[in-house]
Amino acid sequence: MSNIAEEINKRRTFAIISHPDAGKTTLTEKFLLYGGAINLAGSVKGKATARHAVSDWMEIEKERGISVTSSVLQFNYDGYCINILDTPGHQDFSEDTYRTLMAADSAVMVIDASKGVEAQTRKLFKVCGMRGIPIFTFINKLDRDANDTFELLDEIEKELGIATCPVNWPIGSGKRFKGVYDRHENHVLTFSDTEKGTKEGETTVISMDDEDTLMEVLGDEALGTLRDEIELLDGASVEFDLDEVRRGKLTPVFFGSALTNFGVEIFLQNFLKMATTPLPRISQGESVEPVENDFSAFVFKIQANMNKAHRDRIAFMRICSGKFDATKEVRHVQGGKNMRLSQPQQIMADERKILSEAYAGDIIGVFDPGIFSIGDTVCMPKDNICYEGIPTFAPEHFARVRQMDTMKRKQFIKGVNQIAQEGAIQIFQEFNTGMEEIIVGVVGVLQFDVLKYRLENEYNVEIKLEPLPYEHIRWIENKDEVDLAKLTGTSDMKKIKDLKGNPLLLFINQWSIGMTLDRNKGLVLSEFGRG
Ligand code: G4P
Repeated sequence: MSNIAEEINKRRTFAIISHPDAGKTTLTEKFLLYGGAINLAGSVKGKATARHAVSDWMEIEKERGISVTSSVLQFNYDGYCINILDTPGHQDFSEDTYRTLMAADSAVMVIDASKGVEAQTRKLFKVCGMRGIPIFTFINKLDRDANDTFELLDEIEKELGIATCPVNWPIGSGKRFKGVYDRHENHVLTFSDTEKGTKEGETTVISMDDEDTLMEVLGDEALGTLRDEIELLDGASVEFDLDEVRRGKLTPVFFGSALTNFGVEIFLQNFLKMATTPLPRISQGESVEPVENDFSAFVFKIQANMNKAHRDRIAFMRICSGKFDATKEVRHVQGGKNMRLSQPQQIMADERKILSEAYAGDIIGVFDPGIFSIGDTVCMPKDNICYEGIPTFAPEHFARVRQMDTMKRKQFIKGVNQIAQEGAIQIFQEFNTGMEEIIVGVVGVLQFDVLKYRLENEYNVEIKLEPLPYEHIRWIENKDEVDLAKLTGTSDMKKIKDLKGNPLLLFINQWSIGMTLDRNKGLVLSEFGRG
């Protein structure tokens, strides 16, 4: 195998999805601990910055020039080169969070065992589901009292619509948490609090045939329950099938406790074996193979520098095939120009590293003089590659926006348009009127503050935002077949259009969407916009 193929095949690129506080940061830290990237858990991804309030956020953005939320962590473990993409939560939740999932080949879903499937997990899962990427579930915090295990699995299946296959099984939880039963190996791993910043666990392995030791360690009651549960599980759960996992139809489930570092390494090892090498991507209906093709990449995120003095932008690219060589010219397909990517860098949690080479599966950030758009392709000049665009994700918060000083209309329009181009916000207009009224839609409410701040600081325009009550937006898939003037919805439905004139509908609740579909037979609505 060539060196390039070897490099690519050892890459695993994934995102961790979870609801805030489920333990994503803690789990990531433990992964890094195993990778030797840090010596002590708890020191890498500054928690303080992950939890910042709005005002701090602005400061952080300004100081660093680039958000900590852009981080990609790369580390090596057991012969693999691992890229973890961060999907920010809390107030940082934005369209970028969704776009990041476009750059991943698989996802790790962290669920708090006492909470089950939560709102943000559901949203992120939907995007993973749309792409059919493999999803691995880590049910966390077993060291605390947990919900019934069967109920947790049932909830995942019903709420998310994916089959589950437990790879291991918890023995009790909270104060009575004894460890996990490994179904493949048919043995029990006993729980011990291995946190304390080290990776040397004191886990003991006991075969299921060793009745005496099991009795001694687990006790009569826990062992009895475990045997009953195994029997029930073997009868009820679906067979493990790696193909189904890779198609995103079946999620392998693991149990553990990230905080005490129990079950993390077993999870990591299994995950790395089951997860795919960098996946091929589609260009004009054809598959571009990561190993066989020369360098190609697509832009999945653009981050404007919040530093007023340098209005530079960084375009984040996912390398889809081949090897990136900083000394070679590449073609920016949409711009129709050959160029050398300037200052290619790898953006780590708290530092930027200038790169000279990178491989399919890796993420690089390049200086963008304002030429890149989200979804753009770069490839070798001789190749004819153009990746499919990235869908537009449904904003969930809407506001009417006006400039305070009517004399600054021009700057206002320019600013709003540029920020929309970066993909931080989406802008719409009233369906029947001109450009007077602008409606802004965002995925996370923090983006409203970002918009206000940036318009004031970069464009010198003060604005007023008037929140609108809508929470759902739908694109009309069959817009050529629908007469919008005749479309009848509920009284609270609002018709708007995007900048290209595409009609869209705003709704206050799910019920109105259902009613509108009922009243307009043949109408096809979509949650994702496709360019
Ligand atoms: P997030 O990135 O998904 O938002 O979650 P994060 O890892 O920050 O974890 C949220 C809280 O849950 C933290 O507690 C963390 O210590 C705790 N936690 C994570 N994994 C486990 C686990 O396996 N067991 C238990 N019992 N707790 C866990 P915190 O008090 O909010 O923060 P901190 O004071 O510990 O930093």
